Amino acid sequence: MSQTAHPFDMIIIGASGDLARRKLVPALFNLHQYGALPEGRIFAVARNYDDPEGYLAKLRDSSEEQLGTSFDAEHWPDFISRLKTSVVDATEKKSWSMVANALKKHPDRIRVFYLATPPSLYGDISQTLSEAGLVTGTTRIVLEKPIGSDLQSAEDINRRVGEFFEEPQIYRIDHYLGKETVQNLMALRFSNALFEPLWRSQHIDHVQITVAETLGMEGRGDYYDQAGALRDMVQNHLLQLLCLTAMEPPARLDQDAIRTEKIKVLKSLRPMGIEDVKRKTVRAQYRPGVVEGKEVEGFHQEKNIDRKSTTETFVAVKAEIENWRWAGVPFYLRTGKRMGHRVSEIIIQFKTVPHLLFEDQANRLQDNRLVIRLQPDESIKLWLMIKKPGSKIVLKRTHLNLNMADTYEGRRPPLAYERLLMDVIRGNATLFMHRDEVEEAWRWVEPILQGWEELGTRPRIYSAGSWGPAESIALMVRDEREWLEHLV
Ligand code: NDP
Ligand code: BG6
Repeated sequence: MSQTAHPFDMIIIGASGDLARRKLVPALFNLHQYGALPEGRIFAVARNYDDPEGYLAKLRDSSEEQLGTSFDAEHWPDFISRLKTSVVDATEKKSWSMVANALKKHPDRIRVFYLATPPSLYGDISQTLSEAGLVTGTTRIVLEKPIGSDLQSAEDINRRVGEFFEEPQIYRIDHYLGKETVQNLMALRFSNALFEPLWRSQHIDHVQITVAETLGMEGRGDYYDQAGALRDMVQNHLLQLLCLTAMEPPARLDQDAIRTEKIKVLKSLRPMGIEDVKRKTVRAQYRPGVVEGKEVEGFHQEKNIDRKSTTETFVAVKAEIENWRWAGVPFYLRTGKRMGHRVSEIIIQFKTVPHLLFEDQANRLQDNRLVIRLQPDESIKLWLMIKKPGSKIVLKRTHLNLNMADTYEGRRPPLAYERLLMDVIRGNATLFMHRDEVEEAWRWVEPILQGWEELGTRPRIYSAGSWGPAESIALMVRDEREWLEHLV
């Protein structure tokens, strides 16, 4: 990563929160320690810091935890000298005076307001920043997901923020778009002649997108009980992965061309009526179980979760794209907390060969499969059939494996947030979402939420440490398919 970007001032609003501590500060520190962070200051803003020294110690601990062996303590003091904690109520104009004075010292710098607060504050904070005279020509505002909790609230937020910032100044972040393998998905699709002719309904049977987490609530119960897996993960991360998998090749690799193609995919998603919600979606909650060898409590026992909560911690959905390329190719999406393994992957399952030449081998034949793993160990695997060495023809399934860690030993891919924070500073919005994308995604998701409410059924149950409820398996079995667990 080069250090050619302009000097910047970044104001993290909500700096005492989980996101800032676990993701933003470790990413900024990592850039700093590799000499990739341009000259600039970081203002860590929250309404109160009971113990500022303790806060800085927590930032250090979480950076060390996130970065593991690549954390170099020698660089920490220098990094922390660039970071200043400031007590500000971001919705109170007069509360900004000290930060405003400090910012005035470098009025021409790229100024980035990073809103790591509840999204319901995005409109008010934008207005306050504008009224406090803090929005300059070089100011950018970063909005974390989820933008809103339904279509109406997303439109309201977009409209209100839009009153004070021009669209090119607004960076709606989805950190999945910054992940290395997601970038590689585009490289794979659009720089290999091999895949494009096959990337369509004639050759692809179906697509599976799984984002399975072993984490539970991690102290975010307040937020999560209001959100649930559909809003927290499907509306943004999983639909973005679906878009990148399904979109037409863009004319150029710029933000408008890519966004236009993604929006076309979202608009082509078959709307979910009540019958579809009943047959094509599954929602569930985890009960106590064992995850990675440790006993964990159930969702209802977690802190700040209503004991009667019906919020889903697992979702499986069969999505259908009604266009020329994808008609008849289901996209099965699933995501859950407290699952058996942490794994995120996209599986492209190809169709069976049209004519079976090796008839006695029929039971050995397995269809080709492309597995794009985002995490934990980033890789791209293509499963093929070959002949076992020997005098007889015996088919065997094997794979071509591009494992990033082995192939690029010693090369460190940037963390998703590193890449995206640098993109904001550089002014590159290619990997950020346009308001239309966010709203289109809500347009598809909202009827599912409404359908669940209308049906009035309780979420299904799965044991922590499993792959979700039986109904998720049934969703596939009905289509004579199965979830391809990451171990295959
Ligand atoms: P937290 O509840 O942990 O943190 C929210 C932060 O906002 C706190 O620092 C709080 O500090 C601050 N805050 C609230 N009101 C104000 C105000 N008026 N002025 C200044 N600061 C304020 O939330 P998270 O960090 O988990 O999430 C933040 C955002 O990021 C949310 O939109 C979330 O959806 C999103 N996100 C979070 C992820 C995560 O892994 N945590 C991942 C992806 C997105 P105080 O109360 O002291 O003022
Ligand atoms: C966030 C969700 O957007 O993504 C969290 O709010 C989730 O609930 C996280 O844990 C997953 O991100 P990653 O990068 O760890 O897969």
